[in-house]
Amino acid sequence: FAPPLLAGKRVVITAGPTREALDPVRYLSNHSSGKMGFALAEAARLAGAEVVLITGPVALESPKGVRRVDVTSAQSMYEAVHREVAGSDLFIACAAVADYRPAEVQPHKIKKDASLEQDSMQITLVRNPDIVASVAALADKPFVVGFAAETRDLLSYADDKRRRKGLDLVVANDVAATGIGFNSDENAVTVLGENLEQAFTQASKSIVAGSLIELFAQQMGAGER
Ligand code: PMT
Repeated sequence: FAPPLLAGKRVVITAGPTREALDPVRYLSNHSSGKMGFALAEAARLAGAEVVLITGPVALESPKGVRRVDVTSAQSMYEAVHREVAGSDLFIACAAVADYRPAEVQPHKIKKDASLEQDSMQITLVRNPDIVASVAALADKPFVVGFAAETRDLLSYADDKRRRKGLDLVVANDVAATGIGFNSDENAVTVLGENLEQAFTQASKSIVAGSLIELFAQQMGAGER
């Protein structure tokens, strides 16, 4: 009898988009649906882990047996991750986090200024904290897996992110190809590590997630007993 691959392990996963407020009714965001991150949470749970799923705004049901923490902005996702990540064994950053947010959130709805008849407006953006890099920099860090959503030079950009952010593994996701990536039901990815390059061909996000969790467990040594 072999216990499940991640039995006794604590896994923290981010999913979905973040929303960066401009005013009380408008925000900057992206097309992430949360499907890939939720599929990973379900697969980790099925592999026996205790799972915390920190998610931006999505229209998905929580996977069974997973603890879900809802957040909105990159800053609130950063804070939730650092409340949950202590003592975890594996951190998977699947969320599409906004790199920048408006420097100021207007307290009231931004009005068109009729007297100026302005045809354009400028918004100053400031950098958000890099969540996955901040986890990878912790003294007592879990095994850290990031994603890299790229529209060209997939593997070289992804591997560059792995090194720059101090990740154990990066999952390269071509988000220019049709039928995979953002908001689709299927995905195809390549996982890169120091001495690893493993491709997973197109399949449902749930199947891809199962294969990824198996690989992460192997790579973090959780499978050794
Ligand atoms: O949600 P779905 O519709 O199912 O789509 C899945 C997906 C395409 C969103 C997913 O597979 C994916 O690729 N997620 C990463 C999206 C992304 O924003 O990638 P990036 O290359 O911009 O970021 C690189 C890594 O840094 C990611 O792990 C990201 O979570 C992390 N990051 C980025 C910025 C930031 N401020 N903090 C972060 O932690």
